Amino acid sequence: MCGIVGYWGSKDPKQVIVDGLKRLEYRGYDSAGIAVLDQVQGQPKFRVVRAQGKLMELSRKLEQEKFSGQIGIGHTRWATHGVPSERNAHPHSIGGVTLVHNGIIENYQEIRQELAAQGSQFLSDTDSELVAHLLSHEVKQTGDLHAAVLKVWPRLIGAYAIVAVWEQQPDVMVAFKNGPPLVLGVGDGEIVVASDVQAIISTTKRVVYLNDNEVVKVKGANYEITDHQGRKLKKDIVTIDWSADLVEKAGFNHFMLKEIHEQPRAVANAMAPHVDLENQSVRLTGLGFSAQSFDEISKLDSKVDQALSFEKLKNIDRIFIIACGTSHYAGLAGKYLIEQIARIPVEVDIASEFRYREPFIPPRSLVLVISQSGETADTLAALRLAKQAGALTLSICNVRASSIDREAHGHLYMNSGPEIGVASTKAFVSTLAVLNLFALQLGKLRSQLDRDRERRFLDALLGTPAQMEAVLAYDSFFAEAAATLKAYRGILFMGRGINYPIALEGALKLKELAYMHAEGYAAGEMKHGPLALIDERMLIVMVCPSDKNYEKTLSNLEEAKARGGKIISIGTGDNSQLKNVSDHYLSLPKAEWTVNPILEAIPVQLLAYHVANALGHDVDQPRNLAKSVTVE
Ligand code: AGP
Repeated sequence: MCGIVGYWGSKDPKQVIVDGLKRLEYRGYDSAGIAVLDQVQGQPKFRVVRAQGKLMELSRKLEQEKFSGQIGIGHTRWATHGVPSERNAHPHSIGGVTLVHNGIIENYQEIRQELAAQGSQFLSDTDSELVAHLLSHEVKQTGDLHAAVLKVWPRLIGAYAIVAVWEQQPDVMVAFKNGPPLVLGVGDGEIVVASDVQAIISTTKRVVYLNDNEVVKVKGANYEITDHQGRKLKKDIVTIDWSADLVEKAGFNHFMLKEIHEQPRAVANAMAPHVDLENQSVRLTGLGFSAQSFDEISKLDSKVDQALSFEKLKNIDRIFIIACGTSHYAGLAGKYLIEQIARIPVEVDIASEFRYREPFIPPRSLVLVISQSGETADTLAALRLAKQAGALTLSICNVRASSIDREAHGHLYMNSGPEIGVASTKAFVSTLAVLNLFALQLGKLRSQLDRDRERRFLDALLGTPAQMEAVLAYDSFFAEAAATLKAYRGILFMGRGINYPIALEGALKLKELAYMHAEGYAAGEMKHGPLALIDERMLIVMVCPSDKNYEKTLSNLEEAKARGGKIISIGTGDNSQLKNVSDHYLSLPKAEWTVNPILEAIPVQLLAYHVANALGHDVDQPRNLAKSVTVE
């Protein structure tokens, strides 16, 4: 998930672009680059400067650089295809066409093979460079960059936001999107295009939000917006009126909505320390089992080996996952991941039950505790009980040096940044990402995971930030639907397999935010009672991706429909079966079963947020609740 900036105007493009990238650095920071128009041997050229590492590396390189032109593009990267390096950094320049790209071209292998067969030479390992090849071929036929974009567009499958320039039209910039965000800033005699408003607001507060399948052609200080077939569109200019409070919330009305939209970055940050992109493999780092300083280790219980390492992880033969609330539901999804990938028994328990039920914790057990705050009293008590029983303990927290983080033997982190909204969102999806990586690592240690499956699951995980950005587009759907949805007597969330915890999480979100009655159920349980609940006043939310449980979940949905239930279904791709049986169908990008919950979390969060908003509730601080339950 990367950051993009394009500029045309009378200011120094280098400065405007770098300042804009600084505002977007949270979107990715493993490499960065810019391309600005210059005269090279009397010819207009977009000169490219790139650097690996954080944006300051690029700034250092640019200190002595001067450019004569008024137009340029820039990019800050979070790698999905191709390791973080200068070679793979954007912009990519082929045949006079230069571009920056945020997202993922899913059919990149097919395009790469086709281009290779035509004799194309590749300068990087990225999917983005392939778009520059396609555009440089087309623009030779059309003689116009915008026309070339319209010709290339149908070839691209995936989620992408792209800004391109061409040295034969040195005052033109073309930006187009399908999924990740792009915003146009219409200044006084200057134009900015960027991934979000934060990179634009210092130039102008007048913005146009681009929708999917829209393209903007900037020519000097003028612009024209068309659809993907070239038909002109009239779009309103919105004036951003951000108060200081809104700046803190990055323009969102609530921290919770800001944090829902930060989730692609949160998942990227959760994964970053544990992925070896060079070798396309998982390498869980910083567990801390063996890196603790000697005096810290000396405080560990004598029953637990001090030199804890992967070796120890390899020798465990049972896992307990203990947490509360949303963290508990993430742990439940972890059960499906770890049991199916690492083939080891996993028991998931609510901390307040675990700590009092005198649990039997056999030798060679790992107790994994999950806590965003790291201070939840029941979870901390469960951790202490596990340590007294001699178990190896591991925490997944968002707050470093919190009590649970400090007291566990091993440590993993959600890395999602401060979560202000009481209702947990980005910490939840970050935990799902960490649990994916933990399951893969354990699967490798226990020789249960071959390289192909590891690559397949890791590729799916690396693709989620871009896919999540596409799913966030449902924000507007729920904003409009909330007035209707809030009128239901209750909402029944259902799902099967690893999607069942999302049903539980969706119900919890609705309870804690809208104060509405909601249930989360395993869809297979419908006939054992919940079916009696269903009538036209009950809304059903069925989480029904195209995984191995799809057919059975679809038949559950048809049973609910037959009893008059109103249906929102969440499925994969353009699914006519689900559309036919649903009042509203929400389509998710195609993904592995292991990462579907990360995508599914977004619609259920948005549903609860917008219904609570429509009811006039304090979304960031719901009644009776606290961000961290530090007492029993
Ligand atoms: C989730 O939206 C709630 N805020 C609550 O269920 C929370 O997940 C639970 O209290 C656990 O908190 P923790 O992750 O900080 O331990």
